[in-house]
Amino acid sequence: MQPSSSTHHLQKMAYSYNTLLTFLLLLCAAASSTAATGTIGVNYGRIADNLPDPTKVVQLLKSNDIGRVKIFDTDSSVLKALSGSKIAVTVCLPNEQLKSAAADQAFTDNWVKSNILPYHPSTIIEAIAIGNEVFVDPNNLSDFLVPAMQNVYASLAKNNVKSINVSSPIALSALATSYPSSSGSFKPDLVEPVMKPMLSFLRKTGSYLMVNVYPFFAYEANSDTISLDYALLRENNGVPDPKSGIVYKSLLEAQIDAVYAAMNALKFNDVKLVVSETGWPSKGDSNEIGAGEENAAQYNGNLVRRVLTGGGSPMRPDDPLVVYLFALFNENSKSGPTSERNYGLFYPNQQKVYNVPFSVEALADLPSAVSNGTGNGTGNGNGNGNGTKAEVAVAPSPSGGDVTESSVGQTWCVANGKVGQKKLQDALDYACGEGGADCRPIQSGDTCYNPDTLEAHASYAFNSYYQKQARASGSCDFGGAAYVVSQTPRYGSCKFPTGY
Ligand SMILES: *[C@@H]1O[C@H](CO)[C@@H](O)[C@H](O)[C@H]1NC(C)=O
Ligand SMILES: *[C@@H]1O[C@H](CO)[C@@H](O)[C@H](O)[C@H]1NC(C)=O
Ligand SMILES: *[C@@H]1O[C@H](CO)[C@@H](O)[C@H](O)[C@H]1NC(C)=O
Ligand SMILES: *[C@@H]1O[C@H](CO)[C@@H](O)[C@H](O)[C@H]1NC(C)=O
Ligand SMILES: *[C@@H]1O[C@H](CO)[C@@H](O)[C@H](O)[C@H]1NC(C)=O
Repeated sequence: MQPSSSTHHLQKMAYSYNTLLTFLLLLCAAASSTAATGTIGVNYGRIADNLPDPTKVVQLLKSNDIGRVKIFDTDSSVLKALSGSKIAVTVCLPNEQLKSAAADQAFTDNWVKSNILPYHPSTIIEAIAIGNEVFVDPNNLSDFLVPAMQNVYASLAKNNVKSINVSSPIALSALATSYPSSSGSFKPDLVEPVMKPMLSFLRKTGSYLMVNVYPFFAYEANSDTISLDYALLRENNGVPDPKSGIVYKSLLEAQIDAVYAAMNALKFNDVKLVVSETGWPSKGDSNEIGAGEENAAQYNGNLVRRVLTGGGSPMRPDDPLVVYLFALFNENSKSGPTSERNYGLFYPNQQKVYNVPFSVEALADLPSAVSNGTGNGTGNGNGNGNGTKAEVAVAPSPSGGDVTESSVGQTWCVANGKVGQKKLQDALDYACGEGGADCRPIQSGDTCYNPDTLEAHASYAFNSYYQKQARASGSCDFGGAAYVVSQTPRYGSCKFPTGY
């Protein structure tokens, strides 16, 4: 799963009377426009060996009023089970097929013929996701994305299928800047080659951008600066965007608006966005701060309430939120940290991991502790992470097989010990000097002094430099002394920032 590049250093800015006024006006505007309410869907991931039969899953979806699902392939048993169910499904052409799909129209003709036409329209396929988080796939697939989207679209058109949107979920790490939201921008190296052509394609075909947005990742990496209430959509004072005057009540909305701002900056103010994945793990390793059942219940419960009863995000109040929760089930075959196997709303035996209502009716029955967002849980800003069993090793990158179903799109930079002390020291000196990295935390007595090794200190400094460069390509190299990782580096209890 995934990731957010968002790094919010909450700025302690008193918001002015004017800002407050703007906010109230916006609120009134939102309240008076006849509340178009949003839509909830669920990602039905199947990287597990113990899940119920798809026909049972369809019953489970129905009995919980879940009207939309997203799958990560075009599995025939799933698509057949959904036939006639009135549940709309977003399917996926996996990353592994992107290159072929881009290269050859005959390939997508065949793909559509075998994977879409046999099911559509008795199975309501409403969208095709072309790949998943393609920019963070280690196989350098970005160049194939838009051609593959165009080929699939053309193959659908050949068969007169006009009602299926073609899009592609991007990880939030496609953003170079996400705070404040109004300054949101895409990574410069993605803009010309992919983002502009993709957004043009989405505009031309009347489709929308899919974005995987995980406040959990931002919170986990920055729990000292991000309030848990803000991350979990509980009552809080909000975080003002000093440029727009908007006071954000939740990190999720701030992250969504950062993407809208990035689109606006490229003059795609008219293209809509769907949150193709978001979630919160009910369990995590001891270093996965914030993971836990109570927090997961609150995040998902508050989110569903927000989506079903509120308008759009502050920047697009008239575009109701469309949000796909991740995920339907805990998936026991996923690799990576414990959280990866614990995003589910349901256990494989179909019991709820915690209670989340999916309809307005069900919301009304919810205990106030959850519906009010004032439940007990771990609302002390520390999540459930004890933080005592700190691991020293750098977590491994997600294995290739996992990337398809969302791996952490957030990235960090760490030292490559193999280059030797001299090269590491030179690169460290550069990063902390001319490079402008924040090296205060690795000074004696400070938070990241321990473990006191050259590699740990260099990693901290390289990452600081990399994040300050907005993770631009080439900014994590240092002549081979550094490399990019996609899971949170752990050196003792030192926290590596994901942005500045
Ligand atoms: C990625 O692929 C493009 C061409 O498709 C190539 O120009 C570029 O060098 C590749 N980058 C890496 C890191 O392999
Ligand atoms: C395709 O996307 C557009 C833009 O969001 C939306 O209006 C339309 O309903 C979508 N079509 C389907 C079949 O979901
Ligand atoms: C929510 O909490 C407030 C107090 O903060 C209370 O007055 C209100 O009744 C609660 N709402 C529900 C639905 O329980
Ligand atoms: C919150 O949790 C504490 C300890 O776990 C318990 O004593 C208290 O009654 C709980 N409060 C509510 C409102 O559930
Ligand atoms: C800390 O971890 C221990 C062992 O995993 C657990 O028993 C304890 O409840 C945890 N404390 C908190 C505050 O989460």
